[in-house]
Amino acid sequence: MDQHFNEPRVVKEAIFTGSQAIAKAPELQGIPTGIEGLDELFFTVREVEGKLQQVPLGGIPKYAVCNITGVSDTGKSLMVEQFAVYQASRGKKVAFITVESPANFVAASLKYRALAMGLDFQEFEDNIILIDAASHGSLRENLPDLLSTLAYAIKEYKIDFTIVDSVTGLFENKEMMARAIVRRLFNFMKKWYQTALFVSQKRSGHEELSAEAAGGYAVGHIVDGTMVLAKELITSQYAARIYGARIGEIVRLFRIDGCRMSGHDTRTHFMEITPTGLVRIGPALGTSKKEEQ
Ligand SMILES: Nc1ncnc2c1ncn2[C@@H]1O[C@H](COP(=O)(O)OP(=O)(O)OP(=O)(O)O)[C@@H](O)[C@H]1O
Ligand SMILES: [Mg+2]
Repeated sequence: MDQHFNEPRVVKEAIFTGSQAIAKAPELQGIPTGIEGLDELFFTVREVEGKLQQVPLGGIPKYAVCNITGVSDTGKSLMVEQFAVYQASRGKKVAFITVESPANFVAASLKYRALAMGLDFQEFEDNIILIDAASHGSLRENLPDLLSTLAYAIKEYKIDFTIVDSVTGLFENKEMMARAIVRRLFNFMKKWYQTALFVSQKRSGHEELSAEAAGGYAVGHIVDGTMVLAKELITSQYAARIYGARIGEIVRLFRIDGCRMSGHDTRTHFMEITPTGLVRIGPALGTSKKEEQ
């Protein structure tokens, strides 16, 4: 029966010599994020006067697909909204796929982010193209529909940045599909030269600062890099001492858990959500504010 289905096929288009692959390789470049304290945490190595030196990249690597993970209320949405607003304010086009809350709510939130950043949302609001997978079940449940819709939007609006908040919402009730879904999304972003941020929800409160646990684990190995957001309630004198905080206080933490495309800071940093809802990365744990400056 249908012998040719089982016949192995040589996939010649998957074979490249080093030079053929290099000819297509993008140059490593940083994309400023608009998130205070984040851009300085990525770096690259350049030859300066015959010597190799570590130099700042000035942002996340261009064309990277980054996973932003953390349990509920750690600032993931705030962070990606801030990134979207910042890119839009620089005249870049951003696709914002919203899976959790309907587009009009996200738009209201984006407007607040802009206000807090001292930017006039009206000046660049059309640079953000919202794709409402929260209200449209077919986009959430059927990945090919979502990808076709996104491809259409990318062509129509010449989009360079894609945000998905959250990818976890795309595999609700089908966790075993998580890897396959994220893999297809990842390949799509690469094909369309998107610099992308995928939010993924971490269900477990254990190992707060690892990218593991449901949601996180499926994504971590596939994407180019992961940023972990965490919060810790200070309940002991010991914790109070190591974090320099008071009992009962919430301490927010941030860490880059690997980035394949560039060098990066590996320390755990304090993170802050300002009263107006802006995310800011602070000094690394164990360094005084003075040392950082
Ligand atoms: N406009 C705002 N002003 C001040 N603080 C805010 C504002 N919006 C949110 N916050 C604070 O930031 C926290 C994190 O919010 P955010 O929506 O980014 O969480 P999240 O990590 O996306 O959570 P989830 O996984 O539930 O979507 C909120 O719990 C709240 O304490
Ligand atoms: Mg959120």
